[in-house]
Amino acid sequence: MSDALKIGIAGLGTVGSALVRILQERKEKLAVTCGRPITITAVSARDRTRDRGIDMTTTAWFDDPVELAAKADIDVFVELMGGAGDPADAAVRAALSRGLHVVTANKALLARHGVELAKMAEEKGALLNFEAAVAGGIPVIKALRESLTGNAVSRVYGIMNGTCNYILTKMQREGLSFAECLKEAQRLGYAEADPAFDIEGNDTAHKLAILTTLAFGSQIAPDDIYLEGITNISIEDIRAAEDLGYRIKLLGVAQRTETGIEQRVHPTMVPLDSVIAQVDGVTNAVAIESDILGELLMVGPGAGGNATASAVLGDIADIAKSRPGAQDVPVLGRPARELEPYRRARMRSHEGGYFIRMTVEDKAGVFAGIATHMAENRISLESIVQRPHKHVDAAEPKTIILVTHATMEDAVRKAVAAIKGDGYLIGEPQVIRIERPREA
Ligand code: HSE
Repeated sequence: MSDALKIGIAGLGTVGSALVRILQERKEKLAVTCGRPITITAVSARDRTRDRGIDMTTTAWFDDPVELAAKADIDVFVELMGGAGDPADAAVRAALSRGLHVVTANKALLARHGVELAKMAEEKGALLNFEAAVAGGIPVIKALRESLTGNAVSRVYGIMNGTCNYILTKMQREGLSFAECLKEAQRLGYAEADPAFDIEGNDTAHKLAILTTLAFGSQIAPDDIYLEGITNISIEDIRAAEDLGYRIKLLGVAQRTETGIEQRVHPTMVPLDSVIAQVDGVTNAVAIESDILGELLMVGPGAGGNATASAVLGDIADIAKSRPGAQDVPVLGRPARELEPYRRARMRSHEGGYFIRMTVEDKAGVFAGIATHMAENRISLESIVQRPHKHVDAAEPKTIILVTHATMEDAVRKAVAAIKGDGYLIGEPQVIRIERPREA
């Protein structure tokens, strides 16, 4: 059997602790599968004294993760600290500049500095693996980076944040408030250190930016993403969606259009009878549409210690099995120097269906006014529903819900602005985009 693969792990939170435990428990089996043992030579974490339920008596401890990356006697640096800045950034650069292989679960770091880091790795002949950075345990990076080579991808979309999907599912099933559901997601260890990253959509955006590059061969463009989180979604929206045959999910969508690439993260209505509508709780799903294969949909655990550690472990095992000195797969699917500039498609040109929920004064002409503004903007309606807002009382405000056929975002924005100008709306209208899976 060959020499052991020596790894150093920076970050012993939920994922790091799960990884250490699994590596210890499955030591013998992994050595057989990979053809060589994997040993944890060094670790680094913020708190040395915390009981993580794992034995690390024979492992070197570094207080500074950058020092671990720069000096430890290791072949692979495993970065599980998170965050786009230091120490994660400095530590990964220190490791790559020594020619070490790197495994990271850090979507923020890759979204921000991925192209530069890929160039560094490619210059040094090192591997930079990051399966855990997107959709937890689902092997979507490998699918896009390796399995679909040769396909032309037209759209990639999915549920990529377990916390948001957990919250939306719990609200829908149990009628609980947003705040209660978020608290539970945090307790279960799904949420980011700052849960605003989850619920405002930034976490999904980081993941989407990485997928866009792998799917379309363009530079990573994390700032060119249309972003809406789920904090504005109410029980009323969830119930109305169900009544009309839809479910609300936070989707990240990257799509090639005639004018460029659309990258968008927003609450989305998906048809109730679609597979993605049935993806509940912390589970993630990623759909890839391509010309040769058609639609590939992968569903699986997207957050939490074991799901993420499983992907990290797969990346480490790939390195253990690789030929010494061989950089088999370009980090971002094609050599980093060959990535094309990112060309952003305008959100106003987005085409799709829309759900629009409005609370209105109950008076003559309101319905007609709304219908007129829709017609003026050439928006064709799939359905229109009016119902009492709270009580069946003639004087109470009413809720009007419209679902449009495919139309242009620009037309919807203009129609909604005109309706607001009429003065019968109470509060802000709720506008949610509809996304349909490709017709079979
Ligand atoms: N906070 C993330 C989520 C963890 O909820 O999906 C995995 O990236």
